[in-house]
Amino acid sequence: MRIVIARDYEHLSCLGAGLVGEAIVRKPDLVLGLATGVTPLGVYRKLGEMYEAGQVDFSRLTVFNLDEYYGLSPADPRSYRSYLERNLFSRVNLRPENIHLVPGQPGNVADACRNYDLAIAAAGGIDLQILGIGQNGHVGFNEPGKSLCVATHLVDLAPQTVEANARSFPDHGAVPGRAVTVGMGAIMKARRILLLAGGREKAAAVAGALWGPVTTAVPASLLQLHRHTTLIVDQAAAGLIRDCTSAAGGSG
Ligand code: GLP
Repeated sequence: MRIVIARDYEHLSCLGAGLVGEAIVRKPDLVLGLATGVTPLGVYRKLGEMYEAGQVDFSRLTVFNLDEYYGLSPADPRSYRSYLERNLFSRVNLRPENIHLVPGQPGNVADACRNYDLAIAAAGGIDLQILGIGQNGHVGFNEPGKSLCVATHLVDLAPQTVEANARSFPDHGAVPGRAVTVGMGAIMKARRILLLAGGREKAAAVAGALWGPVTTAVPASLLQLHRHTTLIVDQAAAGLIRDCTSAAGGSG
């Protein structure tokens, strides 16, 4: 895994957007996996700026998002669909037919999940997957447990995840207890992964993911087995790994 320690969140966002932008320039029909959460917001803002400046064209890109709360209306501003519309889709020239969103609506979830995996496969798999990391080491909504699911699936959120995500909701009780997430299969099959982590509260998860045992108890630790992952962390999230790396700016 390549590790890049950014000075701060702004630097992390610049480096992350630079990596994604370069990948799109190299392969205009890239298949990009999108994470949500607070961490990638700066990357999406900068990608919007790169599009405005005529540096990156999104018209041939295909995107798949990573996860969605279960049972929230798509129009709900807290849904990940709304998040992506607000923070990325409205800022760039993605074609609506190239946007794929994890099904979060009640109904035949199993079929909808299977169709989502089939759509990823039909697109040729994910070229570049953007990931954040939960404080408990989750990626997407693949929560720590005795086993991990390969396919897209419905999941019960861990109490720590509900707690962490409560900031977007009026109270804990309003946070959906379930979500649909792309499984570890499509994530690990991505040809390239960009893992982003910022803030001191992520330091333990980052260290566990990098140097702990590869275990389903820390889903991000599976990324140690991935051939082409770049981790970009800010100084705060790198707090517990800095003893293990010498060069600020990159190692690994
Ligand atoms: C959330 C999302 C993840 C996200 C992670 C970190 O629960 N399901 O996709 O990467 O947790 O979020 P944040 O960047 O807001 O800390």
